[in-house]
Amino acid sequence: MDKPQRLLLNIEDYHQQAKSKLPAMIYDFYSTGSDDQLTLIDNERAFRQIKLRPKVLIDVSSHSTNNSINCQTQVLNSTATLSFPCMIAPTALHRLANNEHGELATVRAAVACSTIMCVSTNASVDMKRIADEHHQQIRMNYPQSTSQLWFQLYVLKNRRNTQKLIERAEECNYKALVITVDHCEQGNRECYIRNNFTLPNGIQAENLMDDDNDNTEFGKTYRSDIPIDAALSWKDIDWIRSITSLPVIIKGIIHPDDAREAIRHGVQGIIISNHGGRQLDTCQGTIDALRDIMIALGNDKDQIDIYVDGGIRRGTDILKAIALGAKAVLVGRPILWGLAVDGAQGVQSVLNILKNEFRLAMMLCGCQTIEDIRKNNLLILDNRSKL
Ligand SMILES: Cc1cc2nc3c(=O)[nH]c(=O)nc-3n(C[C@H](O)[C@H](O)[C@H](O)COP(=O)(O)O)c2cc1C
Repeated sequence: MDKPQRLLLNIEDYHQQAKSKLPAMIYDFYSTGSDDQLTLIDNERAFRQIKLRPKVLIDVSSHSTNNSINCQTQVLNSTATLSFPCMIAPTALHRLANNEHGELATVRAAVACSTIMCVSTNASVDMKRIADEHHQQIRMNYPQSTSQLWFQLYVLKNRRNTQKLIERAEECNYKALVITVDHCEQGNRECYIRNNFTLPNGIQAENLMDDDNDNTEFGKTYRSDIPIDAALSWKDIDWIRSITSLPVIIKGIIHPDDAREAIRHGVQGIIISNHGGRQLDTCQGTIDALRDIMIALGNDKDQIDIYVDGGIRRGTDILKAIALGAKAVLVGRPILWGLAVDGAQGVQSVLNILKNEFRLAMMLCGCQTIEDIRKNNLLILDNRSKL
């Protein structure tokens, strides 16, 4: 007899279900971090250490009567609206979780949930096909959806190919470029070596299969000679800004000085991220980095959109990030778990769980609007400092 399916009530349920479904090599590829995985653990732990101090006797009934309006969030100078302040982080190779549809399933869920999907350079479906599916879903099934696509760029050693990627993203109607900057070399992910990580036949990083078909991060067996450029510097950010009209967002900022530098270089946003604990181990947890960066930037923080990812598993985590000043969060692994468990429907369920938890957290904290989350002085940080 089949084991009864566990009730899928929260992100951890999806995680466990995905774990039982996926081959160990793929589960490990998705779930693990680098070295001793301390940052991976810290990302989640740092959220849990922040305690909430709810406000009461505030009429929050509008959440029940008009359930979506109060959570809506504007980003990038109000050029995009999210149904709640949570987006899909760029993660590689979705066909490892769902061979048949991969990123096409994820994008359907993004449209259904009116959120932004940030498509990875290392997607296993070509960026044009994803964009076509996005367009089609909005036209046919969700005309009210405010979903957008952003393109996550790894700056390749070959700048001509880098420029081609940017031009294709523009042609395909992607609305922003997210440049990942914490990957000058791949972190030490020991599970790749232990498992002899190999891509299944037919799955590859499609956007990197260039005309000469040899410009890919992943070959048949995992290779460490990735074409990402370790020489990447602020000069290149200026170069990219000079060749594109798309808003530029820098992903992978932890240090407050780098946040300041990003403002100086005129980018529209930063994503505070440690790559989900897959790059530098013992790197600071991202919610702690967000707090430090907000303090360091002072009033300058309003000049750019500040986002955060890493370890967000509950609606209360999203609320804490917003209370600390983030515009929105991004989630990586929870999306992959949803995809592995039930394709587009699984991703949609994961997003809906987070949205419902977030809405409930707002109500229980006495917040009528997103702005209230920032104003209500809700956080107790480390049981010491109070915002
Ligand atoms: C399996 C996997 C693949 C990833 N691939 C990329 C990628 O291609 N580009 C990128 O910028 N970040 C990538 N990331 C990092 C995510 O964008 C994000 O920073 C991280 O997953 C957030 O942490 P979380 O998984 O705890 O939500 C990847 C993360 C995972 C887990």
